Amino acid sequence: MTIAVIGTGFVGVVTAAVYASFGHKVFGLDIDQKKINKLKKSQVPFHEPQLEDLLKETQKKNHLSFTTSYQEAIQSADLIIVAVGTPSTIDGGVDLKYVFACAESLAPYLKSEAVVVVKSTVPPGTLDLVRDKIKSRTKTKFNLASLPEFLREGSAVNDTLHPDRIVIGAENQTTFELLGELHAPLKAPIVRVRPESAQMAKYAANAYLAMRITFINQVADICEKSGADIEEVISAIGYDKRIGAHYWYPGPGYGGSCFPKDVKELAHFFKQMGKTDNLFVKINQLNSYRINLLLTDYGRKVGGFKDKQILVLGLSFKPNTDDLREAPSTKFIPQLIKLRAQIIAFDPVVKQKTAQAVFGQYLESGSLIIEDELDDLTNSADAIFLLTEWSELISLDYSRFRNGTKPQWLFDIRNRLNPVQVRKWGFKYQGIGRQG
Ligand code: UDX
Repeated sequence: MTIAVIGTGFVGVVTAAVYASFGHKVFGLDIDQKKINKLKKSQVPFHEPQLEDLLKETQKKNHLSFTTSYQEAIQSADLIIVAVGTPSTIDGGVDLKYVFACAESLAPYLKSEAVVVVKSTVPPGTLDLVRDKIKSRTKTKFNLASLPEFLREGSAVNDTLHPDRIVIGAENQTTFELLGELHAPLKAPIVRVRPESAQMAKYAANAYLAMRITFINQVADICEKSGADIEEVISAIGYDKRIGAHYWYPGPGYGGSCFPKDVKELAHFFKQMGKTDNLFVKINQLNSYRINLLLTDYGRKVGGFKDKQILVLGLSFKPNTDDLREAPSTKFIPQLIKLRAQIIAFDPVVKQKTAQAVFGQYLESGSLIIEDELDDLTNSADAIFLLTEWSELISLDYSRFRNGTKPQWLFDIRNRLNPVQVRKWGFKYQGIGRQG
């Protein structure tokens, strides 16, 4: 079938490339000419493992092409997938302006009976609004569906090729069949539901995972003060099949482009229903305060951050991506600089150029230096913050950063280092909820 994917962010590009790899004719469409020019040359504008190879392979076979022309992408498409951003509004709601702009722009070129699929994360009820937008510009008959994505940055290609399930929210049998056929090669369970349920499933899944992380962080905080060790606690409760030992390593709180936003949006929906005091408001609050609380504790330990040299390891919000959205580094670094610390940072993929947009003012003032190579880092730091669990950072021999008998702290905010080893190297160790 012929497919148009609108929006070439990480969800759009991965989706387009994977469908093209099944042999469909896929157009990736975006209004950003610069991005399209890069993608035409199989250059991925962000860091995502395996994606460049998939782009090269599918473009070479002429299964995938990129364009800025709505007419070119839409006129022959049986399926149009909207994968544009849905940023938050100031009050925590969702801004649907890009989804609506797509609906209006695609409408004049729609082929009869084409299916318009909303993949962007949108609240229940959005398809009715999209329908109105399209209908205001065309008399052509079309179908609508909701197809939420559950892929993770850093493993997006693998997640798309090996999903736990495909959720299809549609209004009629023909649409279920078309989308079922599209996903058949994945051999994944297909859940057929109404569009509103598909949309809510996305929010519920992300909010549940965010709650799980918030929960374990809270338990970790109690552990630290009570002589218990969170890793031992997880190993003990994880045997309960209802709970499991997966997906809840304690840390600085959840970040990234999805969890913070989706939890805030759920809180907002609830507020709009008159339920101001709801679970999602609390999860969001606890997660937002977390880094400040950690810093207060660490500040006490190092005797204040003023004039201290801090080595920050890891800038991206998680490994295998260069995404800085809601990354712990974007909270730790400004706070530490405000407390008059001097920061040297290193990340395997986030280099000066990518960091400029977020950390520009600190880089210019010289309070933050980002080194390109691990070998450029010296042993002068008073404290090391391990912020992202990149494999090359958790397997490092940290003794290289020891400086004689100088007291140095190692704050392992991902609990990925061995406290006994770290102490043997001569550091003072602080993990999350650990006793060492
Ligand atoms: C998430 C969902 O997993 C995915 O299904 C959805 O489509 C988009 O949002 P992503 O944001 O890429 O994906 O990353 P994920 O690996 O889920 O981590 C999210 C955040 O939670 C990160 O900040 C991570 O560090 C944190 N996290 C995750 C923890 O603190 N502890 C954990 O156990 C797991």
